[in-house]
Amino acid sequence: MIIAVDGPAASGKGTLSKRVAVHYALAYLDTGSLYRAVARDTVIAGGDPRDEDAAVAAAEKIDPDTLEDPGLRARGVGEAASIVAAHAKVRTALLAYQRSFAKQPAGAVIDGRDIGTVICPDATVKLFVTATPEERAHRRYLQLIDGGVQVTEDEVLADIRRRDERDQGREAAPLLKADDAHLLDTTNLSIDAAFKAAIDVIDAAL
Ligand code: C5P
Repeated sequence: MIIAVDGPAASGKGTLSKRVAVHYALAYLDTGSLYRAVARDTVIAGGDPRDEDAAVAAAEKIDPDTLEDPGLRARGVGEAASIVAAHAKVRTALLAYQRSFAKQPAGAVIDGRDIGTVICPDATVKLFVTATPEERAHRRYLQLIDGGVQVTEDEVLADIRRRDERDQGREAAPLLKADDAHLLDTTNLSIDAAFKAAIDVIDAAL
């Protein structure tokens, strides 16, 4: 069983995907962390995320054991990740790892931007998780403040809009709802309600 979960930045897809994975005892892969790690490693190697060759070199050496690094969640890393993620060759370099993860016998929940459209077009169930930019900015703002980061809600909203534009506007695997994905708008849903809605959709498809 493969459950593909796509959606924009801060839509709640990560929280939701982790809970779904536990519920069905499936492995979980946050593919955003791959692009974040590529951005981190490009910069550590002295490269510029806008330089496709530098980002590809980092993508080809990515170490899956470094994806839990809390530094990957920092504000600037998400921004740099969306820059490296626009390079087609970076996406190609990360494809095999994602596809092989999807094949493990236990089945998997995989979240990202192009899982239902490119990585796992034959996924058992596809969810497309959204919320308004304002609601997503509000949630991300509370998380950042909670983590001691000094930022205003307007700055977070501007980050989110810029990232949406880049993720939706790029040529290589843009953020797109697959035709057969179930739309889950979490704007007015609590985490529990979003989880329940997801489980209902998945159970109905099994
Ligand atoms: O999901 P997260 O915010 O951690 O992703 C960081 C960035 O990585 C996104 O803004 C997006 O540009 C990129 N990404 C992607 N394809 C994926 C997952 C993430 O392009 N499957």
